[in-house]
Amino acid sequence: MNSTVGQPVPSLSLPLAQHTVLFWILSLTLPLAVISYWSGYRRIAAGEPPLVPYLLPWLGHGMAFMNDINGFTEWVRSLNPDSPAATVQVAGQHLYLVFDTKLASQIYRRSKNFIFDPFNLMTWGIMGANRSDLEILEMGAQVEKRTPGFKDDGRRVLYDLHRMSGPALTGESLDRLTSLFIDTICREIDTTFPENDAASYEWVRMDLGEFVKKTWTRASIVALFGSHIFTIWPRIEDWLWEFDEHFQSLLTKMPRFMLPKAWALRDEAWEFLEKWEDEALAAEKRGEIKETDDWDPYWGLQWVAVRAKYLIKQGISAKARAGNESVFLWGLNANTIPIAMQVMNQAVLSPTLLSTLQAEISSAQTGPNTFNMAAVTTAPKLKSVLLESLRWATASPSPRVVREDCQLGEYKLLKGSMVIVHSRTLQMDARTWAIDGVPGSAPEEFWAERFLDGDEREEENRIEENQEAETAYAAETFAQAQAQGRSETAKPHKIVEPISGPKSKETQQRMLSMRPFGGGTTLCPGRHFATNEILGGLAALLLRLDVKIDEEALEKNGAPVPNLGKQGGLFPDRGLGVWIRRRRV
Ligand code: HEM
Ligand SMILES: *[C@@H]1O[C@H](CO)[C@@H](O)[C@H](O)[C@H]1NC(C)=O
Ligand SMILES: *[C@@H]1O[C@H](CO)[C@@H](O)[C@H](O)[C@H]1NC(C)=O
Repeated sequence: MNSTVGQPVPSLSLPLAQHTVLFWILSLTLPLAVISYWSGYRRIAAGEPPLVPYLLPWLGHGMAFMNDINGFTEWVRSLNPDSPAATVQVAGQHLYLVFDTKLASQIYRRSKNFIFDPFNLMTWGIMGANRSDLEILEMGAQVEKRTPGFKDDGRRVLYDLHRMSGPALTGESLDRLTSLFIDTICREIDTTFPENDAASYEWVRMDLGEFVKKTWTRASIVALFGSHIFTIWPRIEDWLWEFDEHFQSLLTKMPRFMLPKAWALRDEAWEFLEKWEDEALAAEKRGEIKETDDWDPYWGLQWVAVRAKYLIKQGISAKARAGNESVFLWGLNANTIPIAMQVMNQAVLSPTLLSTLQAEISSAQTGPNTFNMAAVTTAPKLKSVLLESLRWATASPSPRVVREDCQLGEYKLLKGSMVIVHSRTLQMDARTWAIDGVPGSAPEEFWAERFLDGDEREEENRIEENQEAETAYAAETFAQAQAQGRSETAKPHKIVEPISGPKSKETQQRMLSMRPFGGGTTLCPGRHFATNEILGGLAALLLRLDVKIDEEALEKNGAPVPNLGKQGGLFPDRGLGVWIRRRRV
């Protein structure tokens, strides 16, 4: 990783005018800056985590942070590897970077004081919520400061949306969603390599990543948003990956003339998702969809329909609804697809690994082309490869706002500051992951066997944190809602996970350092579906196709590593050429 990215001097590509401004800022502040630089680590308000020295007043490390969150965090960590946390100045604000698993866990558990809703509201605003929408959304949201004139009539939109996702992505609804997804994958493979076409059994060269990206994206859109959306919006898949590149820049809220492409992509999503909703509602009016259908081509999964109609009922505008649906459509793919690509690449890169995985899939087989999903997702080697891919190739910065001054471990955190648990730093920490005498265990290395020791304890920890956080979130939301005459009797959704025997201390420390799915109230509810998409999809593919590496291309291009240029699931940084053909059964 690049260790110079932390320097607060922006790149030389700035227009000349800005250079001049920078020159003056630097000359005027340099004497001061040198003093603050050489005084090294120091604390700011009594008890805050140590401050990372910076040159530019007010702005601090703002530029470096915004340009490259991953590289910047890594650099901060390297300045003082023993400090559990650091304070960074970012555009007049304090940002606390947390590197310690116990502190991270506290942040996730204390959901009343470390809140996420401010980011949620900001995103809604950027994606099209107008003032009246934001007034509705603020009711029941956890915020640090109320908008002047705030009124509460008992609506709880953010909370209700959050509450709906758990049941939709577990149990029977998850099974249905998964089979819709797998069916589509199989259909797509059968279309590309028809079973009764001799040509399907000849080797063809392909880029494995691109094949997975295309097939998996299509299948997850069909499963959640239906198949009719492709007729309405033929460019949907291109839109998705373009939006993925530009979403981050929208968060700067820079005007349209500076970010023409990013805003145009948002507007495109408005146009087609509004149309998608209109046509689904019309089909429902025509009686083409029954209330009891758990999936239909217009809405997709019933949950998606229920969400849309719920938002209409709560008075959320059409643009804001389309904005939220587009963020959802993007979010559900932007993390999973890159990880599916990483898992598939790694499986194929090592012939011994590939044959072990094939053996595990065979023992989960229930017919020539079918398999038991639970057996696949719990097979030790498959599971280890998935966990290792998540460790190696996710960078999930879980941000929170500090609602009140508080104590976190040995530190005092100040109201209104931001906290980030940057998962990748924990997942790449040599002291946690490198094992003496085991070559290949260094964290930069992809080591498929790293998690053979199991991960149940990890899930157990997440659930514990999640339940504590949910209880606090519910208590606060219900208290406010009851004051407004809304009675809420349902308890937070409880998921019972299998718990295994005790693990070694080292293993436990490693599990606590795995944060690909965040934690607390925002612990990713899609993680079970993501697992099914990735490992189930892999099983479906390997039962139908033979895949082998194109050695010549590999030699020329080198093996892919994660591209650190974005957040969440990280794409492989280059293609992987393979030979593919239909498998004879
Ligand atoms: C490997 C794949 C995935 C990864 C790494 C991932 C990661 C995350 C992370 C880190 C968060 C929390 C953000 C925070 O706390 O700051 C999150 C939230 C969320 N994820 Fe995922 N995700 C994945 C797949 C999915 C899928 C497939 C779905 C949907 C079908 C999904 C739906 C959601 C939703 C709805 C939330 C918001 C939860 C809430 O605030 O109530 N995710 N995800
Ligand atoms: C927000 O949008 C809705 C629907 O388009 C509209 O009725 C309402 O007047 C708008 N409110 C504001 C404050 O612009
Ligand atoms: C939109 O919808 C998802 C899924 O229900 C929800 O988790 C998310 O917070 C919403 N956010 C925004 C900003 O649109």
